[in-house]
Amino acid sequence: MSAQAALIAATRALHAAGIEGAAGDARALLAAAMDVPRDRLTLYLGDDLDAAAARFDAMIARRMAREPVAKIIGRREFWGRSFEVTADVLDPRPETECLIAEALRGPVPARLLDLGTGSGIIAVTLLAEWPGAQGVATDIGAAALAVAERNAARHGVGARLGFCRSDWFSQVTGMFDLIVSNPPYIAADEMPDLSVEVRDHDPEGALTDGGDGLSAYRAIASGAGAHLRPGGRIALEIGWQQGAQVREILGAAGFAEVKVLPDLDGRDRVVIGTWPVDIG
Ligand SMILES: C[S@@+](CC[C@H](N)C(=O)[O-])C[C@H]1O[C@@H](n2cnc3c(N)ncnc32)[C@H](O)[C@@H]1O
Repeated sequence: MSAQAALIAATRALHAAGIEGAAGDARALLAAAMDVPRDRLTLYLGDDLDAAAARFDAMIARRMAREPVAKIIGRREFWGRSFEVTADVLDPRPETECLIAEALRGPVPARLLDLGTGSGIIAVTLLAEWPGAQGVATDIGAAALAVAERNAARHGVGARLGFCRSDWFSQVTGMFDLIVSNPPYIAADEMPDLSVEVRDHDPEGALTDGGDGLSAYRAIASGAGAHLRPGGRIALEIGWQQGAQVREILGAAGFAEVKVLPDLDGRDRVVIGTWPVDIG
């Protein structure tokens, strides 16, 4: 069967299964099955699928079972780089690029800390953009840290990024100029509303704290002061309805200049704060 015919059949099958964006997903999966760049797929549509046919069929079957494309092909583009993703990590979201943009607006840190690094997208991206900076990436899950470590090596920042398995700050040592985190912020009672793609394919511990969705912010805010140099910054991704609460949590923990910033859709997405310089 030609790649073109397989693409048409797969698009129809995904569409019939109720997959939104069926055509784009089928193209992404076909490019991965044929091992050709996605933006050049058109050049290969006249080819016979041969050995790639079985791979493509298996991928389409997984997508019909609502597995996200990134988890099927094992890659996600983020801030212009390709990251490995597995079942052990959150599929990185485009909204998290707002956290990167906000962090990059500040001064270059000598040392940064990424809490709950997952695939490592935040720490790896920031170190790749700041070639003079060093960092530590933590996660509660060993499997996630292994993925982050491979992504750090893939993007040439492995020598500048340390990894630490830790429940928030429990195993963290040293001082930092910037703390970043995209913690699990979905409340337990919102979990049933998530799509199957998210609920069944992102690790539960990456999505929710099992409570009100704010407990990670409380833990991070209360521990951050002991690890931030005076004048150091914190930047946290939030759920779009959590701006006022997270601002209050950071303020109550002693942060100054706390601001809630919107994403490109105008919804609250990032909260930043500064650890005060002690003038006493
Ligand atoms: C929303 S995911 C974010 C992953 C990645 N930073 C990103 O933005 O794609 C939250 C991450 O926090 C980790 N996590 C959950 N509870 C934690 C805890 N108590 N201490 C450290 N990390 C934790 C999860 O394993 C998961 O990797």
